[in-house]
Amino acid sequence: MELYIDTANLDEIREASKWGIISGVTTNPSLLAKEGRKIDDVIDEIESLVDGPISVEVVSTRADEMVEEAREVAQIAENIAVKIPMTTGGLAAASRLEEDGIACNVTLVFSANQALMAARAGASFVSPFVGRLDDIGADGIGLIGDVADIFAYYDIDTRIISASLRHPKHVHESAMMGAHIATVPYDVLEKMASHPLTDSGLQKFLDDWKSMEGDL
Ligand code: E4P
Repeated sequence: MELYIDTANLDEIREASKWGIISGVTTNPSLLAKEGRKIDDVIDEIESLVDGPISVEVVSTRADEMVEEAREVAQIAENIAVKIPMTTGGLAAASRLEEDGIACNVTLVFSANQALMAARAGASFVSPFVGRLDDIGADGIGLIGDVADIFAYYDIDTRIISASLRHPKHVHESAMMGAHIATVPYDVLEKMASHPLTDSGLQKFLDDWKSMEGDL
């Protein structure tokens, strides 16, 4: 499973990209609003830091308008995947855009049927939202497993981005369920990299080494 970073914060992308683990970036209007930045302002730097796809969402809601906006968004950089909301208009837009060679990431997916429809519309990516399902007492990770099984059963090559991840266990379980990609907030990436036994083990190695330094 590949790891994307789910943020529009350049410091976070810059830092995580140094770790050599990031294969793409996902943004959304809320993440950009949090930074007070438009995608045009940050895209050059994101592109210089990360090789893979950068998801940028449209804010139109009608199919024709989504297509028009997506064409503009796709021109901002070479490796843009345009995020299209999972509505019937979004399906129509994604289908037309993919025919024109513009990669789409159908977002706000909360059911296996929505994921199947997005895939049949030709979307390159679908993004089931795990955390938001868990928030309402539903089974977010179960959805990742269902979508992965359906796509494998029917040889569907749309890639599953496990999104709306809140903690390291979501990432682990997404991998076990067969998601192709997990898009992970920076704080969760930090938590994934750390373990108390790593910290205490390292401290003991350093202390033991120091204790015999005089004898060497
Ligand atoms: C990713 O593509 C989504 O925009 C993101 O993961 C949503 O996460 P949230 O539910 O924490 O807002």
